[in-house]
Amino acid sequence: MVSTYDPFQVEQPDRTFARLHELRAEGPIVPIGDGMYYVTSYEEARRVLRDAEHFSNAEGFRAPGVSVPVEDRMLGEQDAPQHPGVRRIVMSAFNPAAIRLEEEFVRDRARALLSALDTPGTVDMVPAFTTPLPNDATVHLLGFPMDDAPRIAAWSKEVMESEWPAMNRTERGEGMEGAFPEYTRYVDAFVLDLRQAIAAGTAGDSLIARLITADVGGEPLSQRQMRALVFNLLLGGLTTTAQLLGNVIYQLLVSDSVAPVAAASDAGRAAFIEECLRVYPPVMLIPRGCVAETTVAGTTVKAGERVIVGSACVNRDEALFDASEEFDPARPNGDRHLTFGFGPHICAGAAMARSVALIGLDEFLRFALPRNARLPDGFTYENVPTFFEYGPKSMPVIFDGSR
Ligand code: HEM
Repeated sequence: MVSTYDPFQVEQPDRTFARLHELRAEGPIVPIGDGMYYVTSYEEARRVLRDAEHFSNAEGFRAPGVSVPVEDRMLGEQDAPQHPGVRRIVMSAFNPAAIRLEEEFVRDRARALLSALDTPGTVDMVPAFTTPLPNDATVHLLGFPMDDAPRIAAWSKEVMESEWPAMNRTERGEGMEGAFPEYTRYVDAFVLDLRQAIAAGTAGDSLIARLITADVGGEPLSQRQMRALVFNLLLGGLTTTAQLLGNVIYQLLVSDSVAPVAAASDAGRAAFIEECLRVYPPVMLIPRGCVAETTVAGTTVKAGERVIVGSACVNRDEALFDASEEFDPARPNGDRHLTFGFGPHICAGAAMARSVALIGLDEFLRFALPRNARLPDGFTYENVPTFFEYGPKSMPVIFDGSR
């Protein structure tokens, strides 16, 4: 029997988590129509995600039938043999040691953003804090001018909330170049300037400079491939980490946990973030395309069919997590979620996302505790309009005058 569930539709959260619960009860892998299957079991999800022989990343997060030219594919849309070489270079900038070097910058930004808030009063934390903090961190790490951070954030949000992630087009045109020409020109110019600086011997070391000079399978990356990768790094971390920080702050306030989490150890605060990642994953699914017939939990999946790993669903798999729908930061295995994926494509920016979220949480707690931060009565969580993401569209927080 084919179930009615369309992972490419933007749905509201309550309906989605309730629906995922029903899908888990239907079986470890559920046909959902249109040549697609949805994986609901934690163990089967891990099996699919590490099986690069039968499952390809080429279609990425695109809707069925949408194919992106090879040159325009982001890292997450590449397969071997190209993927491992490019990934190695990207990871040289996103490994935990490199991320630690960014901590001071991120903390300073968090403090500056919070101290600029107009309190006492009510502040929407999405544009004021949860969006600019990850954006500024990414802009800084990638070496873009900090003065450009606001327009990079505005462009990136527009891209992620458009139909481009699913369709690779908008009504303005095809691909990134047709759909977002101003953003594309900006990124192209940045890469070209850097190429010239490298040729003149005046460029310093940076991730993007390393990608420009890299040898991938005997050739350098073309200008279009560079553009796709830079977009991956700019877009991959912004809204996702903003959703995480938004979910963390929402969970703190809705569960009246500001004081206990502020009093917790560093490990306790990290566990709070992991539980947010498990129960409310900023990215709710991970799609793969089947390239060679195989079976998943006894179901035959044919080449050309699509398998959607439901990270939001498997993170609540009762086989692994007791009282799996409950938010419990004290659970011993909360960090075993698959929110960042698993296997060869596991999120390149996971260490950075965790670091930005932890610093953002620390600084928010410091600011919020003496100001009696709270949500307005009757506040209803509304999800962002991106089909694979989960995070608050807006989040007004009331701060009192007392400090
Ligand atoms: C809470 C925040 C984040 C979440 C939930 C998240 C989630 C994910 C997921 C689910 C994947 C796909 C894994 C797969 O296909 O198996 C992925 C891949 C990726 N992410 Fe993240 N991500 C986050 C933050 C970031 C950040 C901060 C960056 C960088 C600035 C980033 C860059 C990437 C890249 C480059 C890939 C492709 C990796 C590959 O295919 O080798 N992500 N992420």
